[in-house]
Amino acid sequence: MEYLRKALEQLDPKLVKRSKLVEVEGTFLLDNTAANLELLRNFKAQPDDLLICTYPKAGTTWMQEIVDMVQHGGDKQKCARAPIYKRIPFIDLFPMKPISSGLEMAEEMPSPRTLKSHLPVQLLPPSFWEQNCKVIYVARNVKDTIVSYFHFHRMNQGLPDPGNWDQFLKSFLTGKIAWGSWFEHVQGWWEAKDRHPILYLFYEDIKEDPTREILKVAHFLNVELPDPILEEITEHTKFETMKENPMANYLTLPDFVMNQALSPFMRKGVVGNWKEHFTVAQNEKIDEISSQLLAGSGLVFRTEL
Ligand code: A3P
Repeated sequence: MEYLRKALEQLDPKLVKRSKLVEVEGTFLLDNTAANLELLRNFKAQPDDLLICTYPKAGTTWMQEIVDMVQHGGDKQKCARAPIYKRIPFIDLFPMKPISSGLEMAEEMPSPRTLKSHLPVQLLPPSFWEQNCKVIYVARNVKDTIVSYFHFHRMNQGLPDPGNWDQFLKSFLTGKIAWGSWFEHVQGWWEAKDRHPILYLFYEDIKEDPTREILKVAHFLNVELPDPILEEITEHTKFETMKENPMANYLTLPDFVMNQALSPFMRKGVVGNWKEHFTVAQNEKIDEISSQLLAGSGLVFRTEL
């Protein structure tokens, strides 16, 4: 926390500006990520690294808190040691100096490390595959993802300007958005799970029965969880608790980075909020695009519970 306070004090709010997008091998990335891609490609994963990977807004922070709790036997004090972005570095994020990049944080961390990424499968640093690292992938239905990502663009001052809702929807559906096409992302990782140790989970399943899904995580990580601890983890990681947890809700960041007055990071935390945003025509269009682009993949998403 001391490091973060000092780094933020040195950061000139006037210099925080919205990123541009750069296309890399067919995927749009934030300009800073694209500029550091070689560094990222050369990242040396260790065999005991665990990677939490998602398309943005799929419930990454939720899974990060779940994993940290599972790894620490449900000890809330240990999980309050630092904000989530410090506990589990985001390797493809390269913020403005003097804030350390996720890669720098990862490199300073003792093993075993847990890391976060939003990279599509084809841009993941090869050492993760070479070292046979475990990966937990979380996917969320496209409609709720779009809504959540729109509001996140509004409040996160480092992301490109989203424009209005109609403009954002168009950018999203054409893949001209940070971390690229949602359709390619969820399918790329879905196919990869047949060749690598990947636990592929769905936001909707976790929402439906968090205890059942936490047990899947524990099993994947070879951790035994007695019932009282499992209950503790379920309680600690539910939306209402995480919204109030300063180590999980990003309120440790100043307004000029994330302006939570515009939209809170812990916004709604439900399945089906898309219904309050889409017109009938927009909804039909997404259904049509989804059935075309996901055809034959075997992937099925629920948009309501
Ligand atoms: P909404 O904007 O729909 O509310 P990410 O961490 O990948 O950026 O995802 C953020 C989304 O996950 C936000 O969705 C946020 O509210 C939701 N979220 C975070 N913690 C959650 C929890 N414990 N339960 C349910 N949803 C959660």
